[in-house]
This record gives sequence, structure tokens and C-alpha cells, in this order.
Amino acid sequence: MNGDAPPLAEALRVAASAWHELRSGTSLDRALASAMAAFASANQEPHPRLAAAAKDITYTAVRHLSLIESMLGKLVHRAPEPAAAALLAVALGQLLAPRHAAYTVIDQAVHAAKADSRTRAAGGFVNAVLRNALRRLPALRTELERQPTVAFNAPRWWIDLLREAEPAHFAQILQLQRRPPPLVLRINRRRGSVEDYLQRLRLEGIDASRVGPSALWLRGPRPVHEIPGFDAGEVSVQDAGAQLAVQLLEVENGMRVLDACAAPGGKTAQLAETADELSIDAVELDAERAERIEENLRRTHARDHAQIRVLVADAARPDQFADRRYDRILLDAPCTASGIVRRHPDIPWLRRSADVAQLATLQGRLLDALWPLVEPAGRLLYVVCSVFPEEGARQADRFGARHANARPIALPGIGQSQLRLPPVQGDGWSHGLPSVHDGFFFAMFEKT
Ligand SMILES: C[S@@+](CC[C@H](N)C(=O)[O-])C[C@H]1O[C@@H](n2cnc3c(N)ncnc32)[C@H](O)[C@@H]1O
Repeated sequence: MNGDAPPLAEALRVAASAWHELRSGTSLDRALASAMAAFASANQEPHPRLAAAAKDITYTAVRHLSLIESMLGKLVHRAPEPAAAALLAVALGQLLAPRHAAYTVIDQAVHAAKADSRTRAAGGFVNAVLRNALRRLPALRTELERQPTVAFNAPRWWIDLLREAEPAHFAQILQLQRRPPPLVLRINRRRGSVEDYLQRLRLEGIDASRVGPSALWLRGPRPVHEIPGFDAGEVSVQDAGAQLAVQLLEVENGMRVLDACAAPGGKTAQLAETADELSIDAVELDAERAERIEENLRRTHARDHAQIRVLVADAARPDQFADRRYDRILLDAPCTASGIVRRHPDIPWLRRSADVAQLATLQGRLLDALWPLVEPAGRLLYVVCSVFPEEGARQADRFGARHANARPIALPGIGQSQLRLPPVQGDGWSHGLPSVHDGFFFAMFEKT
């Protein structure tokens, strides 16, 4: 085993606790944070890379969630206790996406079982199930992957919605969303050119290519603090599709801009990198998340170039925060996040089908509440990281129909007022659109 890596048994234990919480309805990142905190309080000085290793194991398992749970159903006669089931699930994930030799995974899973009072008695059982799984894995996988929910690793209703939205490409999108996400950076053009930064990466032996006007795709994952220039704010991590929002908004020097749903502040910082002397209000409902906007603004030195107020408020209640109108409003609305499943593979498993209509109602409320704040001849850009039409084209069409003074106008360089951007991953960069990006929808309106 790699001397620099934490013991696999410990990583499996943390991952198993996180899995258990995830399957009780907690988001993956919260589940991991709480599992890691519980492990750290019960064990002195966990290995510095334990959290990263547990994260990798849990994400890998969630990318195979449906296969793992279907396999378990075939491998055991009675459902195991939840703690043992969780340990088996994350260990099966390691057998499916081999990072370690299978015998190491099984041995370490048994160690993990014995080290925890909730699974101690199940050590022999864990061993037997994993050995059996290993023997039957190829055949079971082929058999189970005939079911769409297993092949696409998503609930049935999710697959059906995507099929309806993208009849020709839904399978491709679902397959792509099972893969780990690309690491894409936004170069802070105030601090240097894309060409110079690419050259710097080359000198440091880091493989990267340009995929958008300010976007670079770094091959291979790496912690953010190990990205050259990240801590100094020279670059930020931001998907190339997400970077389009601020580009499409076409802010000009001195404008008043509202970033209506702003945390963690990726686009707020990008606005300040784009034009001079902007006056930006960044509104965010969640106070804890609003702190991340401040962190991002500090790291990127955004306030050297713009006046920025971070306001903790409900964007649907302008009386709580607005004392003026805006030339540009960016509404990056809360949504199902169906376009960013690569980054958050837990999303399809946490959402319920009723969430789509509920979120669409919230988006409609936000649009209606913010529209009066747009100056005459000002613009509002509506953005969601979703590929479901209810949150995209249908939402924008309904908004346009409700407001006679909201004129859909062409998105710059696109020629249409709406842009549906299903997730893709390819090389090159053409027609102003990045070649690697998550799934988004954009719609622009001008006040007449
Ligand atoms: C898609 S994220 C925004 C990402 C951000 N624009 C960026 O680029 O970093 C949506 C954000 O809206 C916030 N939010 C949800 N409902 C809100 C509301 N009613 N008012 C303000 N913010 C809200 C969420 O907490 C979340 O941080």
C-alpha cells in the first residue's frame, strides 16, 4: 500500500458512515463532513489524507449506487443491518472501479468491520459477501445493467424526464454524468493572459488545454490549493458553461449589477474581473454560504475593481435588500441541478420527482420579484444548471408571456434569446461555446 495514503480500512469506515447518512437523505458533502468529524472525535490525529480518500471512495460508490444496491439484493438473502450494508456498499464500489487489488479491498473491509462496534460481529459476513461478489461480479454486472436504472445510475423518473427533454442524446448525457467531472479553471484576465498561464502550467509539467475564452481544462484531478496561482486569486475553479453566464450578460464599465442568488460567489468574482467600476449587489439567502462569497472575493481581490455589497436576504423579497434599480440582473436560480450530476452524483438520489415543479414555482417567483428592479433598457439573464425544460425553456417562455415589457433578446454570439446547453466533453473550442462543460440553460430579457 502507498506509504503516503491513509489505511484503506479507515477510509472505508468513514465512507461507510457517509453512505449511511446519504441513504437517509443527507447530501453527500454534508454526510462526508459529518462522518469525518465523528471519526476525528473518536480517533486521535486522523491521517491528513483520510478525508480525501473517504471522499473518493464514497463518490465512486455513489456513481455505481444502483448497481451496488441491486447486487447486494442478489448477494444476500436478508437485508443486513444498515451499518454492515453501508460498509458492503462502499467496498463493492472499490471492487467495481478498481483502485486497489480485490484481495486488499476485502481484507481492509473486514478490518473496518472489526474496528467498529456496530459491525464487529459482521466481519465474517462481510468477508463472505465480498468474496462471493468478486466471483460473480462480471456476470451480475452484465445481467443487472440491462435495467436502465442500473445502466444510467438514476431513478426511473429522472431518466424519463431526460428522455423527454433530449430524445436523441439522453443516453449519452446520462452516461457522461456517471463520469468524474473535468477540472476547469477561469483565468483572472486582470492578473495575466490565458496564454501565459498555459505556458506556466507546461513548465510545471501540468497537462492542460484551452476550452473557452478564459477557460482551461486541467487533465487529472488535483486539490485546489495545489493549482498554481489559485490561492493568490489568479485562477478560480469554474465550469466553462458556468463561465458563459457573465460573458453573456455583457456588463459595461460603471454599471449597477445584481447577482441575485450569489453563493459561493464564482460569478460575483467573475463580474469584477470583467468590467471596471461596477457596483454589484450579491444577494444570498443562506448566511453560511454567503461567507463563501466573501472568501472568494478576498482571494480574487475582486473589491480592488468593483464596489460589492454581499447581502444575506431572500431575492424574492426585494423590499429586504433593494434600494435601487439595476442595469443588469443575473438570476442564477436554485434548481434541480440536473446539469451538474458529474460534480454531485448524489443529486438524482436525493431529489424527488415533485421537486421539479416546486423548484419551477420558486424560479418563477424569483423572476417575477426581480423583474421590477431592472432599469428600462436593462437586462435580466436567467440561468439554471438544469437540463429539464420545466426549469428552462418552459420557465422562460412563461415568464415572457406574463410580462409584456420583457422582450427576449438574442444572447451575444448565439443569435437566439435562449441557449440549452446539455453537458458535453470534447476537445477544441468552437463557435464561442466551450467544448467541455456541464448542463445549463440561459435566457435573456430586456426591459422595454
Ligand atoms: C446555483 S447557486 C448560485 C451559484 C453562484 N451564482 C455562483 O456562480 O457561484 C444558487 C444559490 O441560490 C441561493 N438561493 C436559493 N434561494 C434563494 C433566494 N430565495 N434568495 C437568494 N438566494 C437564494 C442558494 O443558497 C444557492 O447558494
